[in-house]
Amino acid sequence: MTQRVLTGITTTGTLHLGNYVGAIRPAIAASQEAGVESFFFMADYHALIKCDEPERIARSRLEIAATWLAAGLDTSRVTFYRQSDIPEIPELTWLLTCITSKGQMNRAHAYKAAVDANVAGGEDPDAGITMGLYSYPILMAADILIFNAHRVPVGRDQVQHIEMARDVAQRFNHQFGQGSDFFVLPEANVEEDVALLPGLDGRKMSKSYDNSIPLFEGGAKALKEAIARIVTDSRLPGEPKEPEGQALVTIYDAFATPAQRTEFRAALRGGLAWGEAKQQLFDRIEAQIGPMRARYAELMAHPERIEAVLQEGAAKARKLAGPLLAQAREAVGLRSFVAVAPLPAKGNAGKAAKHALPVVKQYREADGQFYFKLNAADGTLLLQSLGFAEGREAGQWVARLKRDGLDALADLPLAAEPAIDRPALDAALAALRDAQT
Ligand code: TRP
Repeated sequence: MTQRVLTGITTTGTLHLGNYVGAIRPAIAASQEAGVESFFFMADYHALIKCDEPERIARSRLEIAATWLAAGLDTSRVTFYRQSDIPEIPELTWLLTCITSKGQMNRAHAYKAAVDANVAGGEDPDAGITMGLYSYPILMAADILIFNAHRVPVGRDQVQHIEMARDVAQRFNHQFGQGSDFFVLPEANVEEDVALLPGLDGRKMSKSYDNSIPLFEGGAKALKEAIARIVTDSRLPGEPKEPEGQALVTIYDAFATPAQRTEFRAALRGGLAWGEAKQQLFDRIEAQIGPMRARYAELMAHPERIEAVLQEGAAKARKLAGPLLAQAREAVGLRSFVAVAPLPAKGNAGKAAKHALPVVKQYREADGQFYFKLNAADGTLLLQSLGFAEGREAGQWVARLKRDGLDALADLPLAAEPAIDRPALDAALAALRDAQT
C-alpha cells in the first residue's frame, strides 16, 4: 500500500541554506521514492498565528512556493498546495475542536511556553495569547487527518503536535467511527541524522543567531560574501589544517560527493589556504544552487505561473479532502434532512433498535370510514384493511389479529395490496403479542 507522507511549511520569513539542506532537499528526494504519495503545503493559516503583517505573509508564501518549485519539486508526482486554498481544512478543524479537551491544549508546549514567559514577566498568564495560538495543534491535526496521512516528517519540536493529532483521530474514531478506523493514526518521522548545517560561526544555522547563509537572496554575490565570513582558525596558507570540526568543511560536505569530501580534506591537511578553500566551497554550492536561483528568479518574475501550479494542487487536494469531509460531517450528524434516522431513546440506543416493533395504525379516511394497517418494524406495509363503518370494528379486528395471529386472516376484509407475506406477518403479530405480555 502506498504511504502518504505529509509536511507543512510555515510561511514566515525567508529561507536560508540550512533550510534547503535540512528540509527541502531531503523532502524532495523522499517524494521521489516509490510507494510514497507526498503532500507538501504552505501552512499559511498557521503563519497568521505568528505574523500579523499582511505584506510579509503575502511575500513569504510566494517566495517559499517559488523556492520549492525551483528546488525541483515535481508537482505531477506530489500534491503541492496552500493550506488556505482548502476550505475543508478549517471545516474539519471545527469538528475536531468540538471533541478536543481544553485541558489537553493547556499542555501544548507552544502555549505553555507563552504562558510561562508571561508569568515570568509578571503579566497575566494569557496576556497577548490568541485563540489561534491556543488552537494551533487542532488546525495541524486537521491538516494531517484530512488526507489520512500515515507519516509526518517533522522536527523534534513538532512531535507533540503529531501526538495530539493521533489523540484527536483516535477520539473521533471512537466516538463517531462506528467500529471502523475513520481516520488513519499518523506517525511523526523525526529525522535523527538530518543534516544540521552549521552557520557562519559554527553554531546551528539560524535566523535568530544571525549566522545564516542566504539561499537565493542577494544572488551569487551575497553567497560569496557570506562564505567569506565563515569562521576558521588562523592557520596560514601552506600550514597543514585539521578539517574535522570546521564549519566550512561540514558545509562543504553537504554539497559534495564522498570522493570530493576526501579530496578536500587531503588538500586542507596539505596546506590549502582558507581563502582558496572558501573559493572551492563557493564553487560547490553555486554548482547546485546557481541553476535553482535562475529558476527561482524566473518564477518570481511570473507569479501567475506559481499561482496556476498551486490552483492545480488545490484542486487535486480537494478531490481527496471533499469526500473525507463529507463523511466526517455525516459521521457527526450533519446530514441531509432526507436521510435522518429516528433518534433512539436516550442512553438506550442498542436496546431500542433490538426492540423496534411493528406498528398498527388506526385512522379515518376522507370517506368517513375507519381503517387500520400494519407496518413491519422496518416500515414495510404488511397489511391494509378495507374501510369499516365503525371505529370500534377496526379496533376489534386488530385485537383479534394480535390474539389469533394468522388464523384471524380468513375473515378479515383486506385491500388487494399489499399481497400477504405470511412469514413476515406471522413474525410481526408474534412480536406485537409478546410486547403486550
Ligand atoms: N507546525 C509546523 C511547523 O511549524 C508546520 C505545520 C503546519 C505542519 N501543519 C502541519 C507540519 C502539518 C506537518 C504537518 O513546522
